[in-house]
Amino acid sequence: MPQRSAKVFLSLVVFGLLLVGCQENPTGPPSTLASALSPRGPGAEAISGLWWFMFIVAVIVYAITMGLLAIALLRRRTGAVDLRARTPRGAYSFIVIAGIVVPLIILLVLFGFTLQTMVVIASPGEAGDSDSLTIQVIGHQWWWEVRYPLLGFETANEIHIPENVPVLIRLTSADVIHSFWVPELHGKIDLIPGRTNTIWIEADSVGQFRGVCAEFCGLQHAKMQMVVVSESAEDFDLWVARQQLPAPEPDNDVTFQGQQIFQGSACVYCHTIRGTNAVSDLGPDLTHFASRLTIGAGAVPNSPGHLAGWIVDSHGIKPGNRMPPMLLDSDDLNALLAYMQTLE
Ligand code: CUA
Repeated sequence: MPQRSAKVFLSLVVFGLLLVGCQENPTGPPSTLASALSPRGPGAEAISGLWWFMFIVAVIVYAITMGLLAIALLRRRTGAVDLRARTPRGAYSFIVIAGIVVPLIILLVLFGFTLQTMVVIASPGEAGDSDSLTIQVIGHQWWWEVRYPLLGFETANEIHIPENVPVLIRLTSADVIHSFWVPELHGKIDLIPGRTNTIWIEADSVGQFRGVCAEFCGLQHAKMQMVVVSESAEDFDLWVARQQLPAPEPDNDVTFQGQQIFQGSACVYCHTIRGTNAVSDLGPDLTHFASRLTIGAGAVPNSPGHLAGWIVDSHGIKPGNRMPPMLLDSDDLNALLAYMQTLE
């Protein structure tokens, strides 16, 4: 049957192509194959438990249904159907039990388990209280503003948390609806203009966890990524101490020239570098830009080459983003790059 083999072959090819979608994003932060099925925190663990339970129940129901269908096909009668024949005994009760009672029980059990999981993930557990570390996340087209209000600084597209500590995230949006999703740590939650949603996240180990926007929000929805960096308490404190400092002063002619270019150009209309006259909050705060892993909310890794490309023509990397191209000659660009590298 050549037609049949062709169909099987085609299905395998299509399946193989679909699997390519599971590959790690090469431009994303390192070591992050984000999957909700490899939970690294209590929230994601509860969700993955519920997912596995639903999956196993579905597999059992599917197997039984297919088994019954196979039996019916194998035992089918041939010849004319006698419409006057009596319905076999027990047929009605089988329909009532297998078609109504059993599905009802299964759905009630799944509903109960889902409600219980929702209660578990809504609370931070015993360790969380009102004094817990609170982070404010504001969605923008297409990047994440990240504020640490009690610690007095802000950053972008990168959230640092101490490991094994429940952290309260308060989310809202500056423009359209976005959705915050770090699959290894928790489920999705929407960022809605004019409203604040909250979620507790906790990572049970040190690591980098990729987060994405999970609600279509415009042209660059796919390039609205972030990374959650979970680190030891000491590393987190060091990071906080560094973030709280203003940007370092330029210590040579080239970086000084770079700072002058930044302050004398359109950069200041959108960005803040604490300690300089750049104080606008339309775009990401760049005070400690060089310490971040990516540029353009996960669009490209943070390296001088990518930064040069981003400054000169960010639309080549992320079409439609709000940053206008900066036309600089090569000396000025090099000085600006040198200055940006000092913002650690
Ligand atoms: Cu923001 Cu999709």
